[in-house]
Amino acid sequence: MRYAIAFIAALSCFPAQSQDLPDGPGKAVVEKICADCHGLATIVGLRRTKSGWESTVDDMAARGAKGSDEEFDAVVAYLARYLGKVNVNKAGAKEIQDVADLTAPEAESIVRYRTQNGDFKDLADLHKVPDVDAKRLDERKDRIAFK
Ligand code: HEC
Repeated sequence: MRYAIAFIAALSCFPAQSQDLPDGPGKAVVEKICADCHGLATIVGLRRTKSGWESTVDDMAARGAKGSDEEFDAVVAYLARYLGKVNVNKAGAKEIQDVADLTAPEAESIVRYRTQNGDFKDLADLHKVPDVDAKRLDERKDRIAFK
């Protein structure tokens, strides 16, 4: 009996998978369009740039994912923001703030430093930016791309 209960409890974990996706606009559309063939576990934990997600979503549409243009746009917007990776050498301050989850002054400081000193090569370079918390950067390094 105890095993049966444990088994049922384990099974009931599966629908809860989508809870691993952060809340935000577009999440419901991702759950609707992207779960059918492989479940959301394929997506949770990945990080890609916006253009990376665009090509993934195009690829999925070619494989048979069904949705309207608006729905696919909402999926890309959600993935780019919540499972995103931002190119700190290209993005504006707002995008850096949203995707890398930094404060507005930190993001602005990054853009200002880039404008004055040129592109960042790596995380060590990014550490030179004044008024950006190094620990925050390190914790979020999987959200940051340099090209
Ligand atoms: C019609 C079925 C179907 C739907 C719906 C679908 N996919 Fe896929 N997806 C696949 C198949 C098949 C693979 C395996 C392809 C492979 O092994 O390379 C896959 C693999 C993936 C992968 C792993 C491959 C990679 O690009 O790294 C990701 C990520 C992914 N899908 C994201 C999505 C997203 C986001 C959506 C919603 C827009 C979605 N999928 C909807 C069929 C689907």
